[in-house]
Amino acid sequence: KQDDDQLIIDAGQKQFGAMTCSSCGMVYSADNPEDNFQHTQFHQRFLDSIKFVGWKKERVVAEFWDGKILLVMPDDPKYAIKKAEDVRRVADNELGFQQVALSRPTQAKTYLFINTERLVVGCLVAEPIRQAYRVLEQPDRHKDMTKDDFMERHRAWCCSTVPEQALCGISRIWVFSLARRQGIATRMLDTVRSTFMYGSPLTKEEIAFSDPTPDGKLFATKYCNT
Ligand code: ACO
Ligand code: ZN
Repeated sequence: KQDDDQLIIDAGQKQFGAMTCSSCGMVYSADNPEDNFQHTQFHQRFLDSIKFVGWKKERVVAEFWDGKILLVMPDDPKYAIKKAEDVRRVADNELGFQQVALSRPTQAKTYLFINTERLVVGCLVAEPIRQAYRVLEQPDRHKDMTKDDFMERHRAWCCSTVPEQALCGISRIWVFSLARRQGIATRMLDTVRSTFMYGSPLTKEEIAFSDPTPDGKLFATKYCNT
């Protein structure tokens, strides 16, 4: 159902000249009143959700020239938990998740990438797991996509039936649309591997992605092979 709606919106945008808001990243048609209204509704709420004002206590787990990564733990102060939840909601909304509960909320670790403009541009939720099912490689069907291929691409991925040992499950990974392809997801995952289990860095094999999206699968395949 949602995929159908999305296709209609995309077709409409091509017709009416789509534009991308340079602050919130939403793609919409300025000539379409309903689109405009939706953008206005979304814009401020989104920017409020990802705005980072600075905290009294920040658990900085990595620093870079273009930002830093903070770790939020379940027992942290309310202001930190709230920001982690706000950003997770933004990510879930974009992923089409409807309020998916964390499988082990008391053990989930949230990693937030804060950029130099004080925006949370990346969010990753990691949870301890025991085993995972490897996503099986599928033939590349991404080129010359027709509508059927589009549906195909959104189907569940084939998973192996043999469970393999894993220690850390990535239940969400999200990067702000205007900040993608700058290695933010890669750096968040590298940081998870070095900090998730105290004193014992994880290998790429010990990490598993739950239910990857098409973007997530492209990223995960690249990350795991390099
Ligand atoms: N298409 C093709 N290759 C990709 C893509 C893509 N969309 N995204 C990443 N890659 C590959 C590239 O090889 C890239 O290296 P390159 O830019 O030098 O070519 C490499 O992965 C590393 O990419 P990063 O820059 O580290 O990834 P980014 O910060 O852009 O974040 C992410 C990737 C998180 C998937 C982002 O696109 C996103 O938030 N998408 C929307 C939400 C989503 O689908 N998240 C995954 C859900 S699955 C889950 O949560 C378990
Ligand atoms: Zn906007």
